[in-house]
Amino acid sequence: MASDQRPDKAVGKAVLEPPRPERIRAEIAEGLRASPRRLPSRFFYDARGAQLFEEITRLDEYYLTDAEVEILGRRSERVAELVGPRVRMVEYGSGSGQKTWLVLGELESPSAYVPVDVARQQLLAFARRVRERFPELEVLPVAADYTQLEALPWPSAEAGATLAFFPGSTVGNLEPSEAVEFLGKIADQTGSGEYLLIGADLVKDRRTLERAYNDSLGVTAEFNLNILRHLNRLLNADFDPGAFRHRAVWNQEQSRIEMHLVSLRDQTVWLGASDVEGGESVRIGEGEVVVTEHSYKYEIDSFHELTGRAGYRPVEFWTDDDERFSVHLLQAAE
Ligand code: AVJ
Repeated sequence: MASDQRPDKAVGKAVLEPPRPERIRAEIAEGLRASPRRLPSRFFYDARGAQLFEEITRLDEYYLTDAEVEILGRRSERVAELVGPRVRMVEYGSGSGQKTWLVLGELESPSAYVPVDVARQQLLAFARRVRERFPELEVLPVAADYTQLEALPWPSAEAGATLAFFPGSTVGNLEPSEAVEFLGKIADQTGSGEYLLIGADLVKDRRTLERAYNDSLGVTAEFNLNILRHLNRLLNADFDPGAFRHRAVWNQEQSRIEMHLVSLRDQTVWLGASDVEGGESVRIGEGEVVVTEHSYKYEIDSFHELTGRAGYRPVEFWTDDDERFSVHLLQAAE
């Protein structure tokens, strides 16, 4: 795309959005009063949450990361061949980097790398590591909630195709209708004819799925409870992590793992407990459940049906040898 046709004005620099605590408080209060009670899973990822998730990816029971790395290790060369030279690579939810290196390392003279993440500290630290490893590459980090993002930065140099990268089966955290909306947004942000490389966890037996979210070391339990600590800091709330228990169950009808925090007693949670700003309380009874995450699992066909509704056509897809996980190269309709 020529520079005068670029859809946004954020040329060559990062877009940094400030957090909005009042809006977050309203969202949290509404979720906690809904039926079923819910907390948005994006609040897992403060610095500690990001660290705990990294630990999860190294657990034996959590097969997703190993399976996806196996696929990308084998197929990134093929991806590079399909998307061509001077790619602008946009990563939604930048992680530890392992998967990024696998793809970026195979691309032919990529023009820019645009990592998008809510965890600002981790994002900036990661951007620095990418710059060290690829000194020629323009690195343009965007600290934002990617579901709220409207525009993406462009490299100062001439770019080829845009390759959006959304690994980790993070798409599975969205309700299917939200996933269609979000992927449609990626298609809008990147443009027609542009690519999306996306990881999706596959449906499998209950035992394997539930073990992946109930690990024997209790790291996933810590990760789940950490959402409460994060919200305490963010909203000046007073969740007691000791008053909740972690649980994860496979919901076969809905094709999703559900992470729950089960209330261990009748309790009242304050959101914004200081007199100055005013606060509000939510009552939660003993045995009541707060849903913190849905992690949808797809069959290849159901995933293509979903991405098709967002305007993407499948180019190629790959699985690991054990067919636990899938990676898809998709192209936005012209
Ligand atoms: C990062 C959303 C893909 O759903 O498997 C890991 C998050 N939650 N263990 C997932 C998670 C509990 C993970 N995703």
